[in-house]
Amino acid sequence: MDYLRIVGGNPLRGRLVISGAKNAALPLLCVPLLTEEKITFSNMPCLKDITTMTKILFELGCEIHFSSQEYAKAPFGQVMTIQCSQVKHSEAQYDLIRQMRAGMLVLGPLLARHGFAKVSLPGGCAIGARPVDIHLDAMRALGADIELENGYIIAKAPQGLKGTHIPLRFASVGATEHILMTAVLAKGTTTITNAAREPEIIDLADCLNKMGAKISGAGTDKITIDGVDKLHGATHAVMYDRIEAGTYMIAAAMTGGDLTLEGAVIADNEALVERMRHAGIHIDILSDTSLRVLSQQTNHFKATDIETQPFPAFATDLQAQFMALMCLSDGVSMVDENIFENRFMHVPELMRMGASITIKGSTAHIKGIDHFTGANVMATDLRASSSLILAALNATGETNIHRLYHLDRGYECIEEKLRFCGAVAERIKGE
Ligand code: UD1
Repeated sequence: MDYLRIVGGNPLRGRLVISGAKNAALPLLCVPLLTEEKITFSNMPCLKDITTMTKILFELGCEIHFSSQEYAKAPFGQVMTIQCSQVKHSEAQYDLIRQMRAGMLVLGPLLARHGFAKVSLPGGCAIGARPVDIHLDAMRALGADIELENGYIIAKAPQGLKGTHIPLRFASVGATEHILMTAVLAKGTTTITNAAREPEIIDLADCLNKMGAKISGAGTDKITIDGVDKLHGATHAVMYDRIEAGTYMIAAAMTGGDLTLEGAVIADNEALVERMRHAGIHIDILSDTSLRVLSQQTNHFKATDIETQPFPAFATDLQAQFMALMCLSDGVSMVDENIFENRFMHVPELMRMGASITIKGSTAHIKGIDHFTGANVMATDLRASSSLILAALNATGETNIHRLYHLDRGYECIEEKLRFCGAVAERIKGE
């Protein structure tokens, strides 16, 4: 299998363009199921998860056309046109859903348009059990009949769905998105309270509204959806990836770099900017969508605690990367992970590279070291992989990061982007 070889010690410098957001793109890819007209997306990142989602859509009967984004004058990404004139199958198979949990988000749109859907249960994953009870309770509240059979969710609503009040027991990102995409075609009004407020939800609501939906309040904890009879075609640019931006911000800091990021939306990463500044890292806000990280050091950062919580608090998807930064601080920092129960799998791998970390329950105590040391390490999940890359960029010597397929799910052209700003990084083809 392929692995990534990184020789550490080179500061990241220059200018990078952030890609379209995986976590916005995945729910967006489900919206063409809601209309027979064409939906065109630009800034769609080229990632493994996006390919998996397009395979799911293809099986359901969507026609999909890609064109290079060069034509749209952007360096990465692609333009994708999707049309689902007719839902040909309403079943999404285990083989694809097991590769990517977000695939289950096709359930709601299929149910809303077609009155029936059979979608594999996604199951747990490395970072936690990740149940889907909030999604299914919401579908039931909208009037669907839900049964679980042989690992599949079978959802029926032959008479259509009906708007209602859905109070979420937890502000789940996926469930909030799923309800938006289901309730848009329901009769009457749906209100979600304790809704997730992540920027990706605003992006999804914007796209649905361009298609004729009537959604207000996205980005707050109360979202109102007035059901409409039909949705039409639209064009939409996928928002920038705030997690990719955050990862490169931390990479610049840990390598003593000077990196300008285009497409780093400040409002989407305020918690990270605040914590990095607390750690002593200089960040210039250049505009609403660009910033410069200027770091004079590769260690002795000020110890800084973080606590992951739903947006706008510190993102769980940046926890592993921030922990890598804190490994280079003076003193002890604490990381509290409150979203997923098993999201410290990067810890043993960072320790192979010299980190000093102890875990008690959902809290990690990180004692600063001078620098990481190159080693052979194994990626265990998507964001864990990026923390290993950050450690490798800082390390003395060479690091080989194995199980790259995790990384390919979420970071577009990562080795090209790293090389572009001065890192020594190459993908070695495995057996
Ligand atoms: C999304 C992101 C993921 C991010 C997460 C939290 C995508 C494709 N993925 O995942 O990168 O880490 O938000 O910001 O956008 N839960 C339940 N029952 C449910 C649903 C969720 O108990 O029905 C729990 C989960 O197990 C987890 C917590 O709620 O502990 C947060 O999950 P959720 O916000 O739903 O995350 P995802 O949408 O899966």
